[in-house]
Amino acid sequence: MLQRTAGFGRRREAAVLSRERASAERVEVAPIDAERAHATGPAAVAEIARPSVPVQQSSRRVDTEADLFKSLKQQLFSALVDQIDLPALSKLEPEHARSEIAAILTEIIDERQIGVASADRARIVTDIANQVLGYGPLQPLLDRDDIADIMVNGAGRVFIEVNGKTQETDIRFDSDEQLLNICQRIVSAVGRRVDESSPICDARLPDGSRVNVIAPPLAIDGPTLTIRKFKRDKLTLDHLVRFGSISHEGAEILKIIGRIRCNVLISGGTGSGKTTLLNCLTASIDHDERIVTCEDSAELQLQQPHVVRLETRPRNLEGEGEVTMRDLVKNCLRMRPERIIVGEVRGPEAFDLLQAMNTGHDGSMGTLHANSPREALARLESMISIGGFNLQSKTVREMMVSSIDVIVQAARLRDGRRVITHITEVVGMEGDVITTQDLFLYEITGEDARGIILGEHRSNGNGRPYFWERARYYGEDKRLLDALDASDRRDERRAMDHDRHQLGVGR
Ligand SMILES: Nc1ncnc2c1ncn2[C@@H]1O[C@H](COP(=O)(O)OP(=O)(O)OP(=O)(O)O)[C@@H](O)[C@H]1O
Ligand SMILES: [Mg+2]
Repeated sequence: MLQRTAGFGRRREAAVLSRERASAERVEVAPIDAERAHATGPAAVAEIARPSVPVQQSSRRVDTEADLFKSLKQQLFSALVDQIDLPALSKLEPEHARSEIAAILTEIIDERQIGVASADRARIVTDIANQVLGYGPLQPLLDRDDIADIMVNGAGRVFIEVNGKTQETDIRFDSDEQLLNICQRIVSAVGRRVDESSPICDARLPDGSRVNVIAPPLAIDGPTLTIRKFKRDKLTLDHLVRFGSISHEGAEILKIIGRIRCNVLISGGTGSGKTTLLNCLTASIDHDERIVTCEDSAELQLQQPHVVRLETRPRNLEGEGEVTMRDLVKNCLRMRPERIIVGEVRGPEAFDLLQAMNTGHDGSMGTLHANSPREALARLESMISIGGFNLQSKTVREMMVSSIDVIVQAARLRDGRRVITHITEVVGMEGDVITTQDLFLYEITGEDARGIILGEHRSNGNGRPYFWERARYYGEDKRLLDALDASDRRDERRAMDHDRHQLGVGR
């Protein structure tokens, strides 16, 4: 620590020398009076900091106050980068590095007698520290825990998703170049590159957040960055019950499905909560099972001790070294897994996952993009037929029926809420058609004055599910029966309330 400080000290001596020179030619900004500075915001900074000597006026024309603020920040940033020992800085703890940056910036501002109101000074220091240490204007968004997604559509438009709702923020990047630099910084940390010649890139932030960048010329309105924030504290089924995403009984049944090694597909649209649900289901897996997970970007957080996590790899800059999901799933089979968990099935690995489910790896799970359980089956079939396995459609369907026990459907409703809309069993074939049975459904009953969708989870009342015997084998039959009974009783009560209400209204 002392050495680091010494490093800065040496550097600062040099900085002082250069600052002495700078003060001799002090022409950038006019001195200010402190009172005015205190009473003002960026507007006044702009006025106060406006160059008062012709040299500066002729060197740069600044049209607006915001531009002037930006330009002042840029000048201070350049001065800081000139003076600071970046390698030494990078070795410091973030908090320590921030206070070093703040101290040096304060020195620069005082030395150069730049007039800045204290609130603006704090903002400048924070912005510059974010630029040097973190992800620039993105940093405050990355620091927030309540944000699910950050979506940057070029330098001038940044959206976030909070509580299921997408909203525009007032965060702006100074320019597309600054934005692209930050994207570059993010992707270079995982050994990738994003620029005109390689404009699409997936990456991961050190905290596990999933990142996608698509740059011009493919993204027409500027670099476009999408971040799925990594949640340290993953949601559990109990959270989902509290949020109304599933009923208590429905959650109980999902826990049983997870524990008794049903093969499960989780289906849903983009951002509907598939990965979250997969993570929730894995929480019921016994701790003595060996689990191998395959993901494009490791998002799952399994709590069991015996877990092997695998991640795909895109091809490198020379176009080599790609490891696909199929490669991983195939390799998994040689790793003696008891369960295989595939983050997202989207190609020919569907075939290998089904085979694994069929050959002693009961309790395997995966997610896929589809809007209903039936569509999930159709998508799976087309993934296999496109994969070139040369199988008859009926054969593929039979394989699906003998592999998949349950499809759980997730959806993001119009009001932003995420719910589990179906727990559906895959039960058999009638002719060429796969038959399914809904165990639980979410029924939309209306919408309240605030636009919140009203609905309820109900069981189908068809008696025992097809996985009953399996539940018995694992000693979970009593728990399953209790959950189904409780759900039926709740449905009956609701039906009676409804009838009573109708009668009351009718009278
Ligand atoms: N039931 C829920 N209630 C509230 N928030 C939820 C719920 N399920 C998921 N979320 C949140 O929604 C966001 C998206 O969830 P998740 O990553 O699971 O979706 P996904 O369907 O896997 O998305 P993608 O299609 O991009 O892979 C996350 O921030 C997650 O914490
Ligand atoms: Mg996902």
